[in-house]
Amino acid sequence: MLKAEILDTLLRMRNNSKPGKYFSLVAVPQDDSKPGGRQLENLPSIVGSVDLILLQKEDVLRFIEGASEYMYVSGMAVHNEYKRQGIGTLLLKGVESKVKALGIQYIALQVYAENHVAQTLYEKAGYQAVHTSSAWALETMLPGTQGKRRVLMIKRMTS
Ligand SMILES: CC(C)(COP(=O)(O)OP(=O)(O)OC[C@H]1O[C@@H](n2cnc3c(N)ncnc32)[C@H](O)[C@@H]1OP(=O)(O)O)[C@@H](O)C(=O)NCCC(=O)NCCS
Repeated sequence: MLKAEILDTLLRMRNNSKPGKYFSLVAVPQDDSKPGGRQLENLPSIVGSVDLILLQKEDVLRFIEGASEYMYVSGMAVHNEYKRQGIGTLLLKGVESKVKALGIQYIALQVYAENHVAQTLYEKAGYQAVHTSSAWALETMLPGTQGKRRVLMIKRMTS
């Protein structure tokens, strides 16, 4: 049920986004990505993914002086069997390549305050915590997430 709701939310995000504003990055095992490894009937297995959407929301922009937009990262996940092998870090590098190519200066994301694993991943990748939401702040994009404190983290791209 939750899976279906999340998929529905992602599809809505994609469908409601203007062209060039929503991206999805996936990680596939190296063998699958070799030339000839991709057969239509045998698609590469996805072992990690992350979503990007270009946003201009004031509740984030107020923490980024002088910026008019930012890339918002969400849905970061790595398959259980592939965790702790650098895939999360690799996906974040992919995010940065995309952001640089688009000439965007800031990347923002939110992570649950209790999710120390993900926070460490982001900190190591250069993201800084700028704000923690109150438990009662209920504005949220996904169902089932109300009432949890979320940390807003931001990374400024350097040229
Ligand atoms: C968070 C997540 C994406 C990390 O992916 P990953 O591919 O395992 O991350 P990496 O291997 O690149 O790890 C980078 C660093 O993060 C930290 N880290 C990752 N997993 C950790 C763990 N289980 N315990 C402690 N630190 C951990 C480490 O510092 C690690 O560096 P190191 O291995 O050199 O010590 C993955 O654990 C996941 O899918 N979690 C569930 C979904 C989730 O919480 N998503 C984040 C939503 S905001």
